[in-house]
Amino acid sequence: MTLPPGSRGAFITFEGIDGSGKSTQAKALATALGAHLTREPGGSPGAEEIRRLLVEGDAGRWSPETEILLFTAARRDHLEKTIRPRLERGESVVSDRFADSTRVYQGVARASLGGLVDILHAKMIGVEPDLTFVIDVDPQTALSRGLARQSGEDRFESLGLAFQQELRRGFLALANSYPARVQVIDGNRTAADVATDVLTRAVGFLNGPDHG
Ligand code: ADP
Ligand code: TYD
Repeated sequence: MTLPPGSRGAFITFEGIDGSGKSTQAKALATALGAHLTREPGGSPGAEEIRRLLVEGDAGRWSPETEILLFTAARRDHLEKTIRPRLERGESVVSDRFADSTRVYQGVARASLGGLVDILHAKMIGVEPDLTFVIDVDPQTALSRGLARQSGEDRFESLGLAFQQELRRGFLALANSYPARVQVIDGNRTAADVATDVLTRAVGFLNGPDHG
């Protein structure tokens, strides 16, 4: 990330509540752009091990503070081993979730620990995506989509509808705080329609003045 603009790839992230369709859209965009697809928590062998600690088990398994440390540890490994080397080689990277998830889940919805999240991010991560899409979906729709998957990774979905509503407000507030980086996408459409919208905006961004 110290290379001159133009010689490194673009870093694009997808955010939103559980079941909003982020993974579907991240995959479609990565395929369309020929970018590396990755995800959080996870995205490197070490971070995938930490992921299992985070997404399985009881909702109350970790305190919010412990959770922030685990997500940040996973992100640091993901950044060191996967994201940074690829961007520096000129590859583009599309990640299903990144630091905005910690800002909203741990910083606002799970506990009001925004200050701690910001300090850890500044000290341990220190980078932002070039472009972030928040896939915005009605929480009831998203909850039924997510639980229907029966993935066994439902520790956060088990927190219920009110929690998802709070998360949605958190992601929309985040988009207001970072208007140059974060674009809100209406996810209450078919996956194909959402993908077309996302690709149009991503290509517009990549060809635009903000991206070398
Ligand atoms: P997330 O990564 O946000 O949890 P997924 O992309 O895994 O969401 O989608 C959750 C479920 O909803 C999956 O079964 C997926 O096939 C389905 N899905 C994704 N996008 C849409 C859409 N636009 N309309 C209807 N179902 C969708
Ligand atoms: P993910 O696999 O993206 O779940 P889903 O496909 O259901 O959206 O992420 C797992 C859970 O971890 C999800 O509920 C969001 C949560 N999470 C945080 O609480 N903080 C974070 O920093 C990240 C990256 C995820």
